[in-house]
Amino acid sequence: MKTMTQAPMIKLVMFLMALLLTSACSNARASSGVQVELSSQGDQLAFTQTTLQANAGEEVTVVFKNSSKALQHNWVLVKGDDRVAKQVSEKALAAGLEQLMIPAGATDILAHTNLLQSGETAKLTFTAPTEPGDYTYLCTFPGHYLVGMKGTLVVEP
Ligand code: CU
Repeated sequence: MKTMTQAPMIKLVMFLMALLLTSACSNARASSGVQVELSSQGDQLAFTQTTLQANAGEEVTVVFKNSSKALQHNWVLVKGDDRVAKQVSEKALAAGLEQLMIPAGATDILAHTNLLQSGETAKLTFTAPTEPGDYTYLCTFPGHYLVGMKGTLVVEP
């Protein structure tokens, strides 16, 4: 009788140990990514960092803080350089504030935060492009990109 109750118990313990091992592995994978932090430059229409780096296909976590007193900002990474950023900026303008300056279904946007109020912080995780190169990020709030609220994510091979 005793051995019959022990067998399922051993199976349960083994199952739990397997679970622990799997979660330990996935934690290790997550920590192999890169985390970058940037904010708006006070009340200026600029980011504190105009260059960010990541490896191709790497998991990137961006922590973006809107440190302005009254302005709204977002952080939008586009699938390409300044030419694509300009197009995204124009599409965002057409989308307007009702869509929070993010054009719906835009395939040239790789990752973006919400439109942040002053003092707000957003944390965003995405996979860096597998193709190395320079990718522009910008703020799509009307006028901000035009005066230079942008930067470059350099994706290394
Ligand atoms: Cu902005």
